[in-house]
Amino acid sequence: MKTRPIMITGTTRVYGVLADPIHHVKTPQVMNALFERHGVNGVLVPLHVRPDGLARALDGLRALANVGGFIATVPHKPAMLDLCDDVTEAARRIGAVNCVRREADGRMVGAMLDGIGFVEGLRSAGIDPKGWRAYVAGAGGAASAMAFALAEAGVSHLTIANRTEAKARALAERVAETYPALTLSTDAGTVAGHDLVVNGTSVGMAEGDGAPLDTDQLQPNMVVAEAIMQPVMTPLLTAAQARGCRIQPGLPMLESQIVLMARHMGAIA
Ligand code: ATR
Repeated sequence: MKTRPIMITGTTRVYGVLADPIHHVKTPQVMNALFERHGVNGVLVPLHVRPDGLARALDGLRALANVGGFIATVPHKPAMLDLCDDVTEAARRIGAVNCVRREADGRMVGAMLDGIGFVEGLRSAGIDPKGWRAYVAGAGGAASAMAFALAEAGVSHLTIANRTEAKARALAERVAETYPALTLSTDAGTVAGHDLVVNGTSVGMAEGDGAPLDTDQLQPNMVVAEAIMQPVMTPLLTAAQARGCRIQPGLPMLESQIVLMARHMGAIA
């Protein structure tokens, strides 16, 4: 992506992305390109915040009157839920916040847009999961967001598979409360029989990682999607492609939710 010299003046609104580690974040390029396209006098910068400094960082951002909001990413999404002054209904259901608007009085309003962004990314690739059987690996912040968004998008069945099965069961129960008509399973061993397979774990992010599920069960008629943005081709996507599946990398999820984030932060109408 091309970079540009940003004209920063005294009236430029400042936005941030809070992460730890920070070096891999893609949001600054993607959001600043969007600001440029929309003629927004704003800039989004990386802010390296360690977990033990998150509450202090938030207090600092409250005090900065030209900050419009920020994006929270790994590992801050669950902790941000309790630190915000107000959160959307979806964020509360999912149990995590990934985008925060700073109101003029310093109040912080959190939203969770990962899941909507994921489904929008699928739809813009011409994939509509309505009526499909979906398998989500993981039960943390990203997986919860995707599970709720897939339920909202009308999948007919949802398998939630996690290393720690108790967390998968707890998530399945929360999804069932809101979507009682959906059939749910937490059987990690059955990738076969699904139309959509999604990695919502962090497995595949680190060098030397494998895939988070049994890739021998992948069939060519399946769509295999990733929440991980970096690397773009994870071991799961590489195996899925080799087995003839249609693949959906994680980066489009960010590209389709960046507009939603800019809107939530009040940067664009
Ligand atoms: P995020 O906000 O990115 O979703 P998270 O909430 O910490 O991060 O969730 C990480 C997910 O990846 C969890 O589902 C975790 O499984 P556990 O609940 O059992 O911890 C999963 N995960 C992380 N490392 C894993 C590994 N080596 N093998 C399998 N699952 C793993």
